Amino acid sequence: DWTADNVIADQVAAIRAQVGDARVICGLSGGVDSSVAAALVQRAVGEQLTCVFVDHGLLREGEAEQVEQDFVAATGVQLKVVDAREQFLDALAGVSDPETKRKIIGREFIRVFEAAAREVVEEAGEHGEEVKFLVQGTLYPDVVESGGGEGAANIKSHHNVGGLPDDLQFQLVEPLRTLFKDEVRAVGLELGVPEEIVWRQPFPGPGLGIRIVGDVTAERLETLRKADAIARAELTKAGLDREIWQCPVVLLADVRSVGVQGDGRTYGHPIVLRPVSSEDAMTADWTRLPYDVLSIISTRITNEVADVNRVVLDVTSKPPGTIEWE
Ligand code: XMP
Repeated sequence: DWTADNVIADQVAAIRAQVGDARVICGLSGGVDSSVAAALVQRAVGEQLTCVFVDHGLLREGEAEQVEQDFVAATGVQLKVVDAREQFLDALAGVSDPETKRKIIGREFIRVFEAAAREVVEEAGEHGEEVKFLVQGTLYPDVVESGGGEGAANIKSHHNVGGLPDDLQFQLVEPLRTLFKDEVRAVGLELGVPEEIVWRQPFPGPGLGIRIVGDVTAERLETLRKADAIARAELTKAGLDREIWQCPVVLLADVRSVGVQGDGRTYGHPIVLRPVSSEDAMTADWTRLPYDVLSIISTRITNEVADVNRVVLDVTSKPPGTIEWE
């Protein structure tokens, strides 16, 4: 029988068998998957685990704070926070190809983890053993869509599956590899992960980096972060959070259109709203959001976010579109 309790018992045993008494690190993104994976490993081998939160500058507003406060308070994990904003921006400079972005972000993540692992060992002093394992919150659909499953095409290399460097120093621990998102949520609740994290909408590891169509700059990130915060706040206010699977907000940085604001011509960028309904992200339909909510979001974004003069709604299902634009 499938119950969250059974999954937890099985996975705790499997994790203990896999890692023995070695040290483990886990990249925490603040999302459901990595949080639940971390909580499972914490349950299995507590003291051997150090979580690493990488601020890669591609996060949404308020995300870093949520991990640092809520998750640590609920689970008591040992946490290291790394400010890697410059490192990621430098590595992404001038890159607009989506798969190249994913590969670069995956590679930089691993570099940060390797550095963090060395610090963990140093801090442990003379008894410092090498960190052998890296926890990843890979789910079943990620495996399939990255070409790891049977008969699957490589649609996108989710950086936690297809985008890892060949010379990876860690062995992977992937306790969610057979689960779907609703199952992960059930396991998370059972493990005491805070509801705000368990019910968070999915957010991709490469973050806002794959929601800017065009190359990634600090200024564009700032623009997108503001627009995203407005859309999220209004969806929450309208009580729609659990109606929609997720609502990517995308900046078309390479597109400009003419507009008029105040008494002047503008030549700005469009923001795309991509609300979708889905069971598991493998297929999706666009969510029919109420017009009045769309209207408020559009008005606020064009009024409050500099350089954005148009808001458009994506009305494509998956397939043929994917959920993210990149
Ligand atoms: P797509 O765009 O492939 O997205 O329809 C399916 C689901 O996966 C998320 N996604 C990612 N998650 N790393 C991740 O951890 C990635 O590179 C990545 N790309 C897409 C997306 O947000 C959606 O929930």
